[in-house]
Amino acid sequence: MEKRTELYSGKAKSVFTTDDEQRMVMWFRDDTSAFDGKKKEKLERKGAVNNQFNAFIMQKLAAAGIPTHFEKLLSPQESLVKRLTMIPVECVVRNISAGSICRRLGVEEGLALNPPTFEMFLKNDALGDPMINEYHVRSFGWAEPEHIEKMKALTFQVNDVLKALFLDGNMLLVDYKLEFGLFNGEVMLGDEFSPDGCRLWDKDTREKLDKDRFRQGLGSVVEAYEEVGRRLGMTFEY
Ligand code: C5P
Repeated sequence: MEKRTELYSGKAKSVFTTDDEQRMVMWFRDDTSAFDGKKKEKLERKGAVNNQFNAFIMQKLAAAGIPTHFEKLLSPQESLVKRLTMIPVECVVRNISAGSICRRLGVEEGLALNPPTFEMFLKNDALGDPMINEYHVRSFGWAEPEHIEKMKALTFQVNDVLKALFLDGNMLLVDYKLEFGLFNGEVMLGDEFSPDGCRLWDKDTREKLDKDRFRQGLGSVVEAYEEVGRRLGMTFEY
């Protein structure tokens, strides 16, 4: 496999074409951003930690029967993935209230949500990723109705697998965001799953072990991500 040209550079990852037109290289950089890119910093080791964390989680999800774009680790900061046609919709499940739902609905942080909520956001930086509903997705043709159903079902399936996984490490999966795409007509999980895109709290102390440490200026961001990995039995290479 030969890495070729940069296809796209996002806020934390860059993707490269390869000699296989159905495969891409994802490079996890140390760049960290929040608040629509208004807060930015380079955090040493974060690219490597998130790449290896994502690989670990994607493999757990694949083992549970969830189709993902992940193929293999190539280096501490790079992974080989399938090249998907991305659906421009972010799927969020919340088990506990935190973040934007507290601001939008005026509820306090930390409420258990039974059943967990499901929300969708349009992936559009210029608009600040507005919340949308299934009718918006259908009316504007951002995804086919059966693909919306599949994304929702897979997002909840991920919840069952990962809530249990994190609980084994004495952590609560508060919420997370997933992105999907199509590969040969099949809906597959794309992008990444890392502490950058979810909220994880220590079960006993409710200490934040995710990107809220960066958003809220709590410090020890990468150290907290490494702690999450350690609790799952991972070791990182840099
Ligand atoms: O900000 P909000 O509370 O809506 O975020 C819900 C979850 O989705 C959080 O875990 C957050 O890290 C993640 N998220 C993300 N990328 C976005 C928006 C939210 O990873 N663009």
